[in-house]
Amino acid sequence: MEFDRRTFVKGAAATAAFLPSFNILRADDITIGPKDDTINVAMIGFGAEGKVLAASLVRIPGVRVRAVCDIWKFEQQRAKAFFKGYGHAVTTYEDYRDMLAKEDKNIDAVVVATPDWMHCEHTCACLRAGKHVYCEKEMSNRLELAAEMCRVQKETGKLLQIGHQRRSNPRYRHCFEHVVPSMLGRVTTAYAQWNRTLAPFFSYKKPPKQEILTKYGYANAEQFHNWRWFYKYGGGSMVDLGSHQIDLFIWAWGVPPSSVTAIGGKDAFNPPRQAYDRMYCIYEFKMPDGTKNEAIYQVISSNARGGFYEQFMGVNASLTIAEISARGNTVQRELRQGGLSDAEWQAFIDKGWILPSEGDKVKKEVTKDIAVDTRISAQANGNALAIEMNKPAHMPHLENFFAACRHGETLNCPAELAYESAVAVLAANKSADTHAKHIFKPEDFKVPPRA
Ligand SMILES: NC(=O)c1ccc[n+]([C@@H]2O[C@H](COP(=O)([O-])OP(=O)(O)OC[C@H]3O[C@@H](n4cnc5c(N)ncnc54)[C@H](O)[C@@H]3O)[C@@H](O)[C@H]2O)c1
Repeated sequence: MEFDRRTFVKGAAATAAFLPSFNILRADDITIGPKDDTINVAMIGFGAEGKVLAASLVRIPGVRVRAVCDIWKFEQQRAKAFFKGYGHAVTTYEDYRDMLAKEDKNIDAVVVATPDWMHCEHTCACLRAGKHVYCEKEMSNRLELAAEMCRVQKETGKLLQIGHQRRSNPRYRHCFEHVVPSMLGRVTTAYAQWNRTLAPFFSYKKPPKQEILTKYGYANAEQFHNWRWFYKYGGGSMVDLGSHQIDLFIWAWGVPPSSVTAIGGKDAFNPPRQAYDRMYCIYEFKMPDGTKNEAIYQVISSNARGGFYEQFMGVNASLTIAEISARGNTVQRELRQGGLSDAEWQAFIDKGWILPSEGDKVKKEVTKDIAVDTRISAQANGNALAIEMNKPAHMPHLENFFAACRHGETLNCPAELAYESAVAVLAANKSADTHAKHIFKPEDFKVPPRA
């Protein structure tokens, strides 16, 4: 572990002790044998995210990348060169079927980082070939394909981790283990956003030949590069970015949503995109105790103002967090009558959950004589979270996957769990299309049997 010892709260034991209240998949009986602890890995898809995952894979002890499949020769060459630099000799393939046939004996696990529409085909083929699979989010751009991934995982008994990497991030785990349940009080409201500027459609001077694109189902180079914006291959900005953050609402409250109402727009770019380039959603969550909470979500692809972060707003305090800590890393007390006392707040600092904030005292001195009316609320300065992560963002999630492969550690994002967030996210597009509130039934979040 490379966490900052000074600030790391209670060590790995605390994190391991956190068992979330969802279906837990254990792999006690399907671990990779103790004789050779090396895990031999293949990758399918070596685009932008494939490279990000590769940068973590080469840093994880005992992981050897043996093969990479990508339909684009250019990326095959880049993969070969990249892994050579880290002493991994990889064989490259254009077609995953050739790779699975030829490398069957050489690989234990496969990392899938292809566009969303291919996740089901690639994941199911690998599971059926007896490989454990780490597949990128969104599970699929079509719910029935995400369901099939869950069913095939069950049938094969192999591990399937979905790449919602925040689920393994010790900062988020600390927040959902300690901060949200114990510091915030009743959290009625959550808010998240992902605002970013996207260049007009990506284009490359040398895309794959049209015959390759046609062979693998891409209409043309534009759709191949910009697959996110075409419903055949992706689901627009909501599925691309919202998938990360809606998953956090579900994690924080421990239940899937009961409804979503979404409005979207497709014309920020000229020509307009097929999928929504922006979306504004309200999710409702019915809690087991009969109360109801709301989460507001915004994703914008034409303006980066405000960036990306998540906020959980309780009657006693708020948490602001982001995957990049510079964008969100504080817990801020509500200065209200009957709220948490100085001593109670100090107790959280003493436990090592948040860092002291000198600024708190100063701020309160300034505000104590001001009559706080309904227009103005006194604001405390935030206290930074007392935990840091000094690793690439995806590394703990991959480590969790390999620990599950090796010795049965519990997966942090097994297929059925990711399925819940896929149901919630894909319904936002539907709500925006129909201009109607989408109401979920509890059974919507359960994987249906094959039709
Ligand atoms: N977890 C995260 O933070 C995160 C971030 C970005 C992307 N992603 C996910 O990663 C996946 C890939 O996204 P990306 O940004 O790397 O896309 P990309 O277009 O940059 O890369 C996709 C790669 O897959 C290859 N490919 C396409 N079809 C293929 C096929 N049938 N067989 C083999 N290779 C094929 C392409 O040639 C390309 O190299 C998506 O599911 C995306 O949602 C996750």
